[in-house]
Amino acid sequence: MGTVTAAVRTRVVARLRDALGPQGVLEAPGDVEKYLTDFRGLYHGSALLVACPRDTTQVSQVLSACHEDAIGVVPHGGNTSYCGGATPRESGTEVVLSLHRLNRIRSVDAANHSMVAEAGCVLADVQSAALAANRFFPLSLGSEGSCQIGGNLSTNAGGLAAVRYGVARDLVLGLEVVLADGEVLHGLSSLRKDNTGYDLRDLFIGAEGTLGIITAASLKLFPVPRTVETAWLAVPGMQAAVDVLARLREATGDCVTSFEYLPRIAVEFTARHVPGVVDPFGDPWPACVLCEVSTARHDPQLRALLESALGECMAAGEVLDATIAESIAQREALWKLRESVPEAQRHEGASIKHDVSVPVASLPAFLERAAAAVARVAPRARLVAYGHVGDGNLHFNLSEPEGGQERAAFVALQSVINDAVHDCVREFGGSISAEHGIGRLKRDLLPRYKDPVALATMRAIKRTLDPKGILNPGKVLPD
Ligand code: MLT
Ligand code: ZN
Repeated sequence: MGTVTAAVRTRVVARLRDALGPQGVLEAPGDVEKYLTDFRGLYHGSALLVACPRDTTQVSQVLSACHEDAIGVVPHGGNTSYCGGATPRESGTEVVLSLHRLNRIRSVDAANHSMVAEAGCVLADVQSAALAANRFFPLSLGSEGSCQIGGNLSTNAGGLAAVRYGVARDLVLGLEVVLADGEVLHGLSSLRKDNTGYDLRDLFIGAEGTLGIITAASLKLFPVPRTVETAWLAVPGMQAAVDVLARLREATGDCVTSFEYLPRIAVEFTARHVPGVVDPFGDPWPACVLCEVSTARHDPQLRALLESALGECMAAGEVLDATIAESIAQREALWKLRESVPEAQRHEGASIKHDVSVPVASLPAFLERAAAAVARVAPRARLVAYGHVGDGNLHFNLSEPEGGQERAAFVALQSVINDAVHDCVREFGGSISAEHGIGRLKRDLLPRYKDPVALATMRAIKRTLDPKGILNPGKVLPD
């Protein structure tokens, strides 16, 4: 699929223009540009054009035209991928398929606790539509104002409330998917139980558009949390954080909704670079946790439960200081601090990121071992290991050494550092991609870390569903 003859190019472009109309095809360099570079600026591709279908029928037309001529199709949502999953390659022979015009909430069924949203709906709009029906859609990410639900599902996003509600996969009842040849798989079930054979839905979630294009999803909704308590805790380190999590889950009757770990350096970065962010504690504690507990009940007891559990944690030396938000403004300030970490880290120069998971109980040992492994190869790199401790998911990120003079040497160590960290992940039975996907960035790591039988099965599924290899070529699996 590397080359496309001029005749094929002309035929496909004409067919897409015809099917989608003038609003549905972007070709001018100025219009296309923003679809060609990924969020982190790691990849800059090129494309035949950007197709912007307005509905599933038009997506099907795009796929069937591209399938006929074996043209690669790169689905594109809110462009918040960390792994280059939505960026075309450099060849200029692929069509970018932007889902942004498929942005309708098709239905909300409060009685069934479900809704149907199209792939291009911005996550925050999905949340709002649920709330308008007095229901709650719990997927929550720092990028929720721009990421789209189709991308969230295609990457099986995790985010900030997975400890309670699960990851994107856990929130789906059914999918509508356009297959490689343009056929539409009508799977928008709103059933909780359906044992009629293979669960095709789960094939497309986390597949990053390599097996089909998700055009709409039937999503699970929940009662709206009526009592929410948000605490900021100072802890001596990761072991204490893991112990506190267990204690709070038990003491609150499993009401922990979020449990986010920030080492001191992450708090310092945000206070230094993000206007309006203030460290809630004056003291330089080794690490902090943002913990949120919630229930759908109006429950004045929840705060008392939290306070008494935190008292026990303090007595055990697991919590060194604690503050509980007294107002929505205070709660928002704590969340802003947490959600600003990636932005703050960008201000500290080059970074080398790892989005990894290990069993929650193994986090302390993993952190120690991986930190030591990195220190052996890059002793002056600054470790910023933060994230979703409740899910065993750490963003084990490194920032370049202070001062900026060692940037080139640091960046040159990228693959050595990646190997050191990922080898530790393997020792703990973990995953080298917890919530950001594989995309292009981690594609070539899979053969080293994925079970060979699982990888061969993935390849067999890919060949079956996409025999011509047109769906997001070169992502997840080598083409
Ligand atoms: C986060 O949890 O802040 C995001 O997943 C982004 C990141 O890895 O930096
Ligand atoms: Zn994250």
